[in-house]
Amino acid sequence: MTLHEKVTQAFIEKYKEPPEILIRAPGRVNLIGEHVDYNDGFVMPLAIDRAVWIALRPRSDGHVHLHSLDYGEELDFAVASIVKERSTWREYVKGVAWVLLEEGFNLTGWEGVMTGNVPMGAGLSSSAALEMGIVRTFMEVSGFSMDASKMALIGQRAENDWVGVNCGIMDQMISAGGENGHALLIDCRSLDTSAMPLPEGSVVVVLDTTTRRGLVDSAYNERRMQCESASSFFKVSMLRDVSMQQIESQPEGLDSITWKRARHVITENERTLAAADAMKSNDGVQLGELMYNSHISLRDDFEVSNDALNSIVECAMQIQGCYGARMTGAGFGGCAVALIESDSRQSFIDQVTACYREKTELTANIYVCEATNGAEAVDL
Ligand code: GLA
Repeated sequence: MTLHEKVTQAFIEKYKEPPEILIRAPGRVNLIGEHVDYNDGFVMPLAIDRAVWIALRPRSDGHVHLHSLDYGEELDFAVASIVKERSTWREYVKGVAWVLLEEGFNLTGWEGVMTGNVPMGAGLSSSAALEMGIVRTFMEVSGFSMDASKMALIGQRAENDWVGVNCGIMDQMISAGGENGHALLIDCRSLDTSAMPLPEGSVVVVLDTTTRRGLVDSAYNERRMQCESASSFFKVSMLRDVSMQQIESQPEGLDSITWKRARHVITENERTLAAADAMKSNDGVQLGELMYNSHISLRDDFEVSNDALNSIVECAMQIQGCYGARMTGAGFGGCAVALIESDSRQSFIDQVTACYREKTELTANIYVCEATNGAEAVDL
């Protein structure tokens, strides 16, 4: 049964009528451009065929009632009086409603059922998918529209100011604005986007190490602070404005850790722009090389990888038909991403699984993914 069917059936069971609206909001995988969004740089994610699904209908009493099939839990609140509670999935929903109200939107209530298949805590942006699903839902029931970057800014503010997670803008931008069959080059300063084709005959594979690390938030915040101190050292507002020349050798007065952090951001930004060129010229080999260099930089300079991610990337890189691989997302566990020749997908999956198991005694979850549209209302 597809999630489309599952969520529709669950709605019918609960409300004895079919839903009036169906929303799908995808997770994402980032091809290249890691830890640069909060430095105003360029990123290259794609929305994937793993998503949050909500089946719903409007309510006239200003209440939101949502049943999560995956958590087996309910959420009930009046849009007129939103109160913060212990942080769970519910806070993402309420946080989005709170930001929309803060920004002057009139909200209609609704009721529905939700499910999803974006693995949580794996670095595939299940939270951004939920946020964009909720923004989309309110757009549909309340009858207003906005572009993908506005949707993304609302989700990011909900996460920053309501949930209390200091994320950048990448995940929400791609979950809101993804395009079928393409990655999106996003300028995180202007929020301009351009759709980039994947090299012909290649597919994107997600390699979930199944390792998850707590304390990601504190390490993430620490990296953000290091980037800020580097940009104040260089007297710019954001590291994007520092040139390659400026960080080639360690400047006097800048400690070596902060220098390495800055070097990652600046080289990664260059790599992402080079990746866009490679994609324009249909060059999988070049794109793959840039992805692997990105991994090395995240591992050695930004220091956000872990043993499992390093193992799975090394396994992938040894296999015939793999253009390149790297860790993806915030790091410290979760997923890597590989670009491979589509003809070798089955042998690639078999070989990575065996190699990773031999190195770590863990079983990876591996799936080929399709690049999809961003959050949308789907035909019932
Ligand atoms: C998380 C954040 C994003 C981005 C990535 C790292 O996914 O939510 O904003 O910073 O980490 O590239």
